[in-house]
Amino acid sequence: MGHRFGDGPWLFRDLDFTLRPGEAIGLCGPSGSGKSTLLSIVAGFAKPAEGQVERHNISSVRWVFQNPHGMPRRTALDHVVQPLLGRGYEREQAVDEAMDIMTTFHLADLADRQFRELSGGEAQRLMLARAVASKPGLLLVDEPTAQLDQRTASDVDATLTGLATGDTIVVIATHDPNTRAACSRVIDLAWHENHEERKEQA
Ligand SMILES: Nc1ncnc2c1ncn2[C@@H]1O[C@H](COP(=O)(O)OP(=O)(O)OP(=O)(O)O)[C@@H](O)[C@H]1O
Ligand SMILES: [Mg+2]
Repeated sequence: MGHRFGDGPWLFRDLDFTLRPGEAIGLCGPSGSGKSTLLSIVAGFAKPAEGQVERHNISSVRWVFQNPHGMPRRTALDHVVQPLLGRGYEREQAVDEAMDIMTTFHLADLADRQFRELSGGEAQRLMLARAVASKPGLLLVDEPTAQLDQRTASDVDATLTGLATGDTIVVIATHDPNTRAACSRVIDLAWHENHEERKEQA
């Protein structure tokens, strides 16, 4: 499988891999190497320019974007409770479970805060907590630690890679060496020569 935009340079080519439940896969490579693009192809949001992606028995797909989007006036807690209600939890259990998940992302103290009041890193952790609450078969995460201090980042790494159990596959696009190390497997996207030339011309 390979991809390029239009007749531009190939971002990656001859990729051939299988993702299995229980794995946490890191997509690594420098900025512009195609990590986010490959995530969207794995998710099925984009079609590769050559080759194909097959998905077998994936119950649901969840994507946590590089830039968090939430509901500005709703509380942080509401964001995590909502997918649990969607999965059939009663309100009280949903709140308990949401608080547990938020605690693992260091968000318990911010439960009653409105989304618009959160910092960038808090907002992104909240989107991760929300994704965890929806318990997807395939969880795709883009740069989860980019805005975080080291200690918070390492807890986020542990929580995300810890999710890759049973029937969940976790794919994380990152250039954080610690996140990379926490993954059970890594797919490296190399810096593409053509790409570099094009950048230099620009
Ligand atoms: N829709 C598009 N059309 C044309 N080029 C695109 C499009 N989307 C992305 N690109 C280009 O493809 C390359 C790879 O982008 P991508 O976002 O996948 O990189 P990345 O590895 O996620 O980078 P970063 O670490 O900065 O997030 C970049 O040069 C980008 O400008
Ligand atoms: Mg990216």
